[in-house]
Amino acid sequence: MRPTKESATVSTSQASGVVGEVVPPPLDPTTEILRVEDLTVRFPTDDGMVHAVRGVSYALHPREVLGIVGESGSGKSVSSMAVMGLLPRSAKIGGRVLFRGDDVLRMRPDQQRSLRGRKIGMIFQDAMTALNPVLSIGAQLVEAVRSHEHISHTAALLRAQEMLDLVGIPQAKDRLRSYPHEFSGGMRQRAMIAMAVINRPDVIFADEPTTALDVTVQAQILDTLLAVKDEVDAAIVFITHDLGVIASVADRVLVMYAGKPVETAGVDEIFAEPRMPYTAGLLGSMPTVDLIGERLRPIQGTPPSLINLPTGCPFRPRCPIAIDVCASAEPPLLETDRRGHTAACHRWEDVAGYDDATSMFRVEKGQTVGLVAEDTEDVELPEVRPEELGRDGGTTAGGPA
Ligand SMILES: Nc1ncnc2c1ncn2[C@@H]1O[C@H](COP(=O)(O)OP(=O)(O)OP(=O)(O)O)[C@@H](O)[C@H]1O
Ligand code: SF4
Ligand SMILES: [Mg+2]
Repeated sequence: MRPTKESATVSTSQASGVVGEVVPPPLDPTTEILRVEDLTVRFPTDDGMVHAVRGVSYALHPREVLGIVGESGSGKSVSSMAVMGLLPRSAKIGGRVLFRGDDVLRMRPDQQRSLRGRKIGMIFQDAMTALNPVLSIGAQLVEAVRSHEHISHTAALLRAQEMLDLVGIPQAKDRLRSYPHEFSGGMRQRAMIAMAVINRPDVIFADEPTTALDVTVQAQILDTLLAVKDEVDAAIVFITHDLGVIASVADRVLVMYAGKPVETAGVDEIFAEPRMPYTAGLLGSMPTVDLIGERLRPIQGTPPSLINLPTGCPFRPRCPIAIDVCASAEPPLLETDRRGHTAACHRWEDVAGYDDATSMFRVEKGQTVGLVAEDTEDVELPEVRPEELGRDGGTTAGGPA
């Protein structure tokens, strides 16, 4: 079924945002390591207040991998830095971050520091800047252990060697003496993983840990990360803009747009049954074997400014199935027809009606393309002429001038 614009209905429960709204159950610290509740982050700037994170909530269970995905600037890193207490002082943070029941946001800086590195490990995209260039890899691993644990230098060095071994660095004992510049990009990323897990943390935050690597090395590093996670018995929050990577690592997925979660579900379900057009758009712009010979279907346009957010749904200017209510009311994140699957969309029921939700971004021959600009009047493009179309009927219609 392909719903038409006219067939769209908005249930009163969704429009009001009250009935069915996702309310977190009471915290159980024995089964939840980390719970983030309605996290908000704002940055005062000369141009105005940047609403970088606008209500992120999730719970993380032991050994679970939560994938956070979204376009550049959607608030993935800022929401994670807030959890780790790594944002600049100027940041205005709201909500709660419960680590085994204790609120991290209300801890003293020394308590937060102790949590970081010991209970929460971190892996960043750029290992070269995260590692200290003038200290050997061994010295940095030893320091990571001894800043949290009173053990001898020899014992810490032995642990460092075990960790390099665990992350697949050959001749680990000798490589402890190497400096970061003597490692390849993949080896540096392995060293970062070793550093993140050397104190056997409960949670690892991995922020785009493989983005700078070529695909073969990327796959190896992801395998290593998952193997190490099982070895040290940790959960992972894995941040990426790449849904392909998410598919290979995550158990659950949280899709972010303009600082907010717009869809959450188990990984298989989000790929097979998206309920939010933005997720469908991301899926359609992902190269897959099924699409060989076909054009990808990228989402046109760009995300809105986080200083002057438009009223209504922030995705509306890019959404091919927007209706009037989308301009006036921002949809709350609600549970959909599937248990544990939430979406922030007035039309999730219609999205569910598509056989292939990614097709809503495809323009058929002879179809008129209407796009809405963020800060201009609605723009309707002229009818697409067949000779302007690719052989598959797809189009490269751009955003409004
Ligand atoms: N210190 C700061 N002051 C003002 N704005 C900031 C600051 N740090 C981040 N931002 C803004 O917050 C928003 C979210 O940034 P964030 O780094 O979380 O994006 P992201 O989803 O991680 O993107 P990417 O995929 O590019 O890493 C962006 O608009 C960014 O410009
Ligand atoms: S709520 Fe947003 S995503 Fe859903 S149909 Fe409206 S504009 Fe599209
Ligand atoms: Mg980021």
